[in-house]
Amino acid sequence: MRAAPRLGVNIDHVATVRNARGGTLPDPVRAALVAIEAGADGITAHLREDRRHIRDVDMERLKAEISKPLNFEMAATDEMLAIALRIKPHAICLVPEKREERTTEGGLDVVAGEAHLRPYIAKLNDAGMRVSLFIAADPAAIDAAHRLKAPVVEFHSGSWCDALTEGNTKHAEVEYQRIAAGVAQAAALGIEPHIGHGLDYATAEIVSALPQVAELNIGHYLIGESIFIGLPEAIRRMKTAMAAGRARAQ
Ligand code: PXP
Repeated sequence: MRAAPRLGVNIDHVATVRNARGGTLPDPVRAALVAIEAGADGITAHLREDRRHIRDVDMERLKAEISKPLNFEMAATDEMLAIALRIKPHAICLVPEKREERTTEGGLDVVAGEAHLRPYIAKLNDAGMRVSLFIAADPAAIDAAHRLKAPVVEFHSGSWCDALTEGNTKHAEVEYQRIAAGVAQAAALGIEPHIGHGLDYATAEIVSALPQVAELNIGHYLIGESIFIGLPEAIRRMKTAMAAGRARAQ
């Protein structure tokens, strides 16, 4: 059996709480260090154009202070490319970004955006960063990611998780099957499949049973859980759920 997927802990919302008061606490870098101590395999942070949570200095400190891989989520813009090339995180996840959205609402439109994305991916690949594209589990998008030579895709699990929360089991099943098929298609093309957005213990366990899934990136739920049980315990429970799911992989 393959090892359980890696857990990338997204610490954006520690910065959201910090920024609500405008000071320095709680410190997202401290959260990253605590997360790693508790078993996180990497740290994910999204430097948004409007700097609503993570700031440039947070990214610099994360790169300097953490001992596990840093996954830098960013929009494909010249400003972000320059910052990424300066900080040189382990990995980049290219995401779509709209100022008015509350969170990353959909996947990258890699089919329509292929020409725009190509030079960004090439420059990041050439600089030695592992590039991931945050996409819907759509066959045409996966083929475009392959043409773009992205070594990793991260499938947006938000619609599946929302359908489950709303009790819409029919829609949830359709969304889950799309993700499962996307994971198989990506793996067959030699692309490493990751999954993220909206995951909790139960959904992380389910997708961990897909044997080719190499990494889950989880933020909002873990930071929410940490209010009640602490971040280390939330991470331990998440890792336990992921290991239980992987143990069922066929
Ligand atoms: N992966 C990507 C690419 C994201 O944009 C986000 C949200 O910032 C996540 C994972 C984590 O989603 P959540 O906070 O809902 O766990």
